[in-house]
Amino acid sequence: MLTLIKNGTLVTEEKSLTADLLIEDDKIIQIAEKIEIGENMKVVDATGLFVLPGGVDVHVHLDLPMFGTVSSDDHYTGTKAAAFGGTTMVIDFVSQDSDDLLKNVRVLKEKAASKAAVDYSFHANITHLTDAVEKDIPLLVKEGISSIKVFTAYNNRLRLQDGEIFKVMRIARDHGILTMLHAENGDVIEIMVQEAIEARHFSPDWHAKTRPSWGAVESVMRASAISAMADAPLYIVHMNAGGEVDLLEYAQTHGLKVFGETCPQYLFFTEDELAKPDGAKWICSPPMRTIQDQVRLWQGLEKGIVQTIATDHCPFFFDGSKPIMYEGIPIAIAGKELGKGDFTKIPNGLPGVGDRMPVLWTEMVGSGRFTANQFVKLTSSNPAKLFGMYPQKGTLQVGSDADVVLWDPNKNLQYGVAYSQQRTDYNLYEGWNLKGFPVSVFSRGELIVEHGKWLGKPGRGKFIPRRPFNPDCLG
Ligand code: URP
Ligand code: ZN
Ligand code: ZN
Repeated sequence: MLTLIKNGTLVTEEKSLTADLLIEDDKIIQIAEKIEIGENMKVVDATGLFVLPGGVDVHVHLDLPMFGTVSSDDHYTGTKAAAFGGTTMVIDFVSQDSDDLLKNVRVLKEKAASKAAVDYSFHANITHLTDAVEKDIPLLVKEGISSIKVFTAYNNRLRLQDGEIFKVMRIARDHGILTMLHAENGDVIEIMVQEAIEARHFSPDWHAKTRPSWGAVESVMRASAISAMADAPLYIVHMNAGGEVDLLEYAQTHGLKVFGETCPQYLFFTEDELAKPDGAKWICSPPMRTIQDQVRLWQGLEKGIVQTIATDHCPFFFDGSKPIMYEGIPIAIAGKELGKGDFTKIPNGLPGVGDRMPVLWTEMVGSGRFTANQFVKLTSSNPAKLFGMYPQKGTLQVGSDADVVLWDPNKNLQYGVAYSQQRTDYNLYEGWNLKGFPVSVFSRGELIVEHGKWLGKPGRGKFIPRRPFNPDCLG
């Protein structure tokens, strides 16, 4: 099967050019100024459109159990929502449900295989360190998993102690695995939450008040120091505080291989959202911060201190007692209402996997602050490089997977829950005026979204085995 995309402006992380792009089956096989139309070619006219590599979102949680419920997008609905927003590759997390890491991976692979609509991979959470787990970590690489996540928060649940993080980082280093960090101070959070409850502070704004940004900042410094002592690379997930950028820059100027990710919610919202009547919608961990933090995060992106923008997509219904219609079926999944009257019981997490690319395009490229190439770098190619998938994913090259998005830079729309395909009852960007949106999305050569119409199906997405981490992958 041959598909010829003609007359579009191809945008990669390095350059933009007006050219034709030829797809055979699942791969890009030719890029040239002019490709003759041949027999049996399906021709797509991309005049006036940008042709982008599919977005790569390296931080999503699908079907994640939390607080007695489950995040409301599963591996089908979440990947479908991703596709509508121009993202064609996601990385979810394997929880450490047992100390047999490979079994945990196989269980999740099996669950995702029949559902995923775009390509996917997993990071492995390391939340309980035993001798058996230490032996299993290197085996993840053979499963195609070359990244693990550790936590300095969620005491007695997910957190590892500093010495354990040090041990994990050394094992990871020796086997080409990138250690990712959730940076908050678990001890301080525990005390502050307890004190807030005793003082009968139950409203959502106390979520941010009990998770201070200094905890995130010191955790970035601590983990960077541990990574220096372990001589191991480190990737900080969901950076939210300006001080985290300062410390990441400090570590980088000292020659450490430390990388950073932020998410749109930290770039566009502040903790003030939590004080609104529907503040529970904005509850996620770590919380949103201040305008000053946003300014420093944007600088971090501009200066290359922070290399990726992912989403931490982990949606819940705002009111899970009221069904929404999803593919013609009423669906209700318990959500934020579980914490009515007690912020500690509100499931943590937000929708975002489908919002990321269109919202960022408007705010970054539309505003003139970033080029389209920088947009591609932060949302697609850097994530693919850091997580061992480049140039299969994250770019437009001969031999790359034909994950291709035709992007209309002039499409104006009012965004919101009615537009986005995430399976929840609200959208953080309700009423935002966006300019620029994906019109056609190809995943490995297959047209799965066309002018708002869903052509994909569950189970068509493939698990993508990832290569070991390369410390020089960003050049
Ligand atoms: O609130 C969030 N982000 N939930 C997902 C879990 C995590 O730590 O990323
Ligand atoms: Zn986290
Ligand atoms: Zn997360």
